[in-house]
Amino acid sequence: MFGSIPKSCLLSDRINYLITQNDGYRTLSLSGHVGFDSLPDQLVKKSIKQGFCFNILCIGETGVGKSTLINSLFNTNFDDPVSTHFLPIVQLRAQTYELQESNVLLKLTIVNTVGFGDQINKEDRPFPKIPRFVNHEKPGQQGKADSISKTELQKFKKKIMSELVSNGVQIYQFPTDDETVSQINSIMNEHLPFAVVGSTEKVKIGNKMVRARQYPWGIVEVENENHCDFVKLRQMLICTNMEDLREQTHARHYELYRRCRLEKMGFRDLGPENKLVSLQEAYEAKRHEFYLEMQRKEEEMRQRFVQRVKEKETILKEAEQQIQTKFEHLMLMLQGEKLKLEKTKKVLEDEITMFIEKKANADLLQSQASVSTPVSLKRDKDHKNFT
Ligand code: GTP
Ligand code: MG
Repeated sequence: MFGSIPKSCLLSDRINYLITQNDGYRTLSLSGHVGFDSLPDQLVKKSIKQGFCFNILCIGETGVGKSTLINSLFNTNFDDPVSTHFLPIVQLRAQTYELQESNVLLKLTIVNTVGFGDQINKEDRPFPKIPRFVNHEKPGQQGKADSISKTELQKFKKKIMSELVSNGVQIYQFPTDDETVSQINSIMNEHLPFAVVGSTEKVKIGNKMVRARQYPWGIVEVENENHCDFVKLRQMLICTNMEDLREQTHARHYELYRRCRLEKMGFRDLGPENKLVSLQEAYEAKRHEFYLEMQRKEEEMRQRFVQRVKEKETILKEAEQQIQTKFEHLMLMLQGEKLKLEKTKKVLEDEITMFIEKKANADLLQSQASVSTPVSLKRDKDHKNFT
């Protein structure tokens, strides 16, 4: 590591350090070659070996010319299938290609927004008159998009920029802090947004075959800076600022997106006293928090369960008590009824006994009477009873 200088180096025969004070760091000059000047080469070698990745999200209505532009930009034919115009929703379709230029490998992923703009009423879109820079067949016809003059184009670009600003849309600005590209990038920032023409066809101009669109009224060359901004776009996007774009999207946009997503899930980069914590620490802290919360809820549920069981027990005891009281009451009533019945039974038995006695007496009297009465009297008496 070059961050600190080991003491042993001071004893080295090969290197003499000339020590100066500089904001707490010591700047040392070397009197001989050490070798760390090969670091950039090492990085280049490593990067070439690994290859590079670049993702492009291509947003635009179906048929607007996205595939043609990408083909023109990378000077190849990606054979991108034509998309349907009748999708009810927008779908993202990602395709990855491996490209090689000299010994540099590029893994390019193109993400297409299939069906974008097909669901809206295009008459009401925010830029109702977005023209392709050079489009239709005859210039001058009804003032159409293909006849847009340079002054009109400048006005149109200004309008797009002002609409972007008034709608709070921030677009990428080519960086101006690196002095090797600051001048060209500042100039190019003034040209934004670029008005480009794409084509997959080649036309012979002089003795050269060039990418162009052919119209009855003339030829529009894709790579002619007087015809459109294609060269500017390609130079800015691919030659000068591709690495910056990669870095910015990752460091700025992706990190912001990641942080927002994590924050939504309850993870924060800041710990107590606003100290930065690693994702692992944040995860552990959140896990512990969840664990404690789970334990609290479990205990709460247990308490509630015990409480419910106690309540049920009380209700059961009360019901048991009520049943017992009713049972005793019924038993008392039953005993009372039993006593009453026994009394009635006794009275009836006494009455039956008395009746039997009376009947026996009556039978006795009757038999005595029949012995003392004569037969003729008895007959008269029977005859009277009969009539
Ligand atoms: P989808 O993938 O179906 O959404 O379409 P796309 O946006 O990829 O459009 P594509 O590149 O397939 O082009 C559609 C038509 O527009 C083709 O006929 C192209 O030749 C034509 N086209 C592409 N770029 C331009 C341009 O700059 N000017 C004009 N006039 N036509 C263009
Ligand atoms: Mg396409």
